[in-house]
Amino acid sequence: MTVDPRLSVVAKRLADVKRIIAVTGGKGGIGKSFTATVLALTLARLGYRVGLLDLDLSAPSAHVILGLDEGVFPEEEKGITPPQVHGVAFMSITYFSGDAPTPLRGTDTSNAMLELLAITRWGALDFLMVDMPPGIGDAAMDVIRWLNRAEFIVITTASKVALETVKKVIRMLGELQKPVLGVVENMKLRESSTVLDALKGYNVPFLGAIGFDTDLEDAIGDVDALLETDAAKQLAGIVTGKLGFTKAH
Ligand SMILES: Nc1ncnc2c1ncn2[C@@H]1O[C@H](COP(=O)(O)OP(=O)(O)OP(=O)(O)O)[C@@H](O)[C@H]1O
Ligand SMILES: [Mg+2]
Repeated sequence: MTVDPRLSVVAKRLADVKRIIAVTGGKGGIGKSFTATVLALTLARLGYRVGLLDLDLSAPSAHVILGLDEGVFPEEEKGITPPQVHGVAFMSITYFSGDAPTPLRGTDTSNAMLELLAITRWGALDFLMVDMPPGIGDAAMDVIRWLNRAEFIVITTASKVALETVKKVIRMLGELQKPVLGVVENMKLRESSTVLDALKGYNVPFLGAIGFDTDLEDAIGDVDALLETDAAKQLAGIVTGKLGFTKAH
């Protein structure tokens, strides 16, 4: 097997990034992109230097949540510099693909992800938040391998179906000896210990719950409104409370 020369570039591109935090989860539509994006915005507002990388190439979403303006585009100079979007250095395939579908298959997805990682000049960051491709498919496994110092936040809902896959994700991260910062229960609808019960026996912290927020959808794309939603405030509470990321400098 040949080694892709771009892999050695990836480490260099990330050399001045203190922490890489990847947001993952078992199923689609459980709030990974919401969490990754709001975490990035919250940390930026706290005064940290933050980047956000959308690596869900077939269904990129972070730009929608951020309300990315048309015409914002990365600058090219020996690589590409991610534009600052609401205080966050933001990189996504959407700059290059626009609204067009990107139906990438196996190796094409790997190639495109590796290309993004190899060309992006993040510079010095306290945190790089990564919006992961869903599940434990090829794309997610590639990301876990390439971002070898990433720490993981695992999103779940109280759905038994979602939890079944989330347990597999946690087990896999454990087998690969990857640090898991913890599990967040999203879209909580009622008091129940379903998630806590499911996590018994797994050596991962439970970070807290975010309620199902009927106001969230209206705030998507409007960062100020978004950060005022109950869901975003609950997530901010997890950031400053359980995760202990308080104030930079
Ligand atoms: N706590 C919440 N309350 C209400 N709606 C939510 C909540 N969290 C996320 N959503 C909404 O649910 C939808 C799915 O969220 P999101 O796109 O973040 O999920 P995802 O896990 O990234 O999905 P995919 O696997 O497709 O990438 C979005 O429309 C988002 O606005
Ligand atoms: Mg997503």
